[in-house]
Amino acid sequence: MNIKLSKKEKELLQLVGRVSSELGVSAYVVGGYVRDKLLGKTCKDIDILCVGDGIQLANEVSARIEERPKVTVFKRFGTAMLQTNGLEVEFVGARKESYSKDSRKPIVKPGTLQDDLNRRDFTVNALAFKLRADGLGEFVDKFGGMKDLEDGIIRTPVEPAATFSDDPLRMLRAVRFANQLNFEISEKTLAGIVKSASRIRIISMERVKEEMQKIMACGKPSIGFKLLDSTGLLPYFLPEISKLKGVDKRKGISHKDNFYHTLEVLDRLSDKSSDIWLRWAALLHDVAKPKTKRFEEAHGWTFHGHEMVGAKMVPPIFKRLKLPMGQPMRFVKKMVMLHLRPIALTKEEATDSAVRRLLFDAGEDIDSLLLLCEADITSKNPEKVKRFLTNYQKVRERIVEVEERDKIRNWQPPISGELIMKAFDIKPSRNVGIIKDAIREAILEGDIPNEFDAAFELMLQKGSEIGLEPIKKVEALKEQDQ
Ligand code: CTP
Repeated sequence: MNIKLSKKEKELLQLVGRVSSELGVSAYVVGGYVRDKLLGKTCKDIDILCVGDGIQLANEVSARIEERPKVTVFKRFGTAMLQTNGLEVEFVGARKESYSKDSRKPIVKPGTLQDDLNRRDFTVNALAFKLRADGLGEFVDKFGGMKDLEDGIIRTPVEPAATFSDDPLRMLRAVRFANQLNFEISEKTLAGIVKSASRIRIISMERVKEEMQKIMACGKPSIGFKLLDSTGLLPYFLPEISKLKGVDKRKGISHKDNFYHTLEVLDRLSDKSSDIWLRWAALLHDVAKPKTKRFEEAHGWTFHGHEMVGAKMVPPIFKRLKLPMGQPMRFVKKMVMLHLRPIALTKEEATDSAVRRLLFDAGEDIDSLLLLCEADITSKNPEKVKRFLTNYQKVRERIVEVEERDKIRNWQPPISGELIMKAFDIKPSRNVGIIKDAIREAILEGDIPNEFDAAFELMLQKGSEIGLEPIKKVEALKEQDQ
């Protein structure tokens, strides 16, 4: 068995081989690094398995490297890590490990190579090369992992129930690897996941989130989500997405299955953009459809307000999944909120003011929003798809036109709250908001140009309408603020 190593990797692995034989212990390169290398991929994370003291091996290896890389020791896990030459090398002593029924804290004891490989998650991750002073030695494949790698199969090395009970996160890893590598999960392993699915509850959301993000980053994330659904894992962390499934029929009228529609949108979007948050927006864009679903005699199935209700559902979902609550959450919420707006602009009669309003509300995210809208076209009728796409192209052109003229994207109205307070000598109050809103509305509506002087006049006019008196030298403020 042969794998291609860079010069740096070769030198590092030879060094580990040399030091291990000096220490009288066996060392192996194992896990994801071996898997990825055998698949011809690059991998910068190297896992070294030492039948003996992994921490001692790490310290000795570091001592032989000129720049003496820092060894970070995780005592609780019996592991050590160092970084050298752009490689991240983790050392671990071979161990037997088991998890008590209701806890995630492992009980770890030293073990043999076989013990260690037995407790790994999948056959394709349980492949190893012995390390010698001259580089890679014997290839270790105790569970037919090489064949599974060739056939594209994710399979647990021992009984699935034992593998998943040791660490239930592995059920999500199986789905993620199947998605990332475009592999199938073996029938028995899949049945094992279905059986153990509820155990995912004991796993921290941080770990679940990491796997979700990796599924989201795949070329075709629908593969992962369909597996999460068919195994019964999905409702444990994204019940809202599970609830999108299903079709209702009344008076011979049915609506589309919003689960499969959502996944199609997610894939279509992922073809065009690797922005993980825009992908989340695609996943969540119709999340409130089950909540807002009605059957109206005159119109059939409707989902009125699903964009608004959906936007409100975004923060609790992000919170639950421990996704970042700052800018990423606000962006996803905004996309969900606005995802129907560009449709209105595809109509012939859409006004410039509607374009300006959308530009104002979407700001710099307008291009992302249009990508989402284009991905949202999942009609099976190619003529329709073509027509809708052409319409969005026209919307893009209109946006460029209006933007060139009015500069609304990332726009701040020309009169600030500060200036309004100075002009009428008032403190922060509702009146400041009323005047600010009036100016913004007038500009977006096109009633006044997007210019300081016109906005200043309107400010004075609005002020007088609500009974405010400007200061004597109000005109002088123009000079200061313009
Ligand atoms: N492993 C395991 N069970 C887990 C996590 C990891 O058995 N829940 C083992 C596998 O043998 C895996 C190795 O530890 O190959 C390294 O784990 P990790 O770095 O998390 O995964 P990789 O397989 O390297 O893949 P990725 O980096 O894509 O997660």
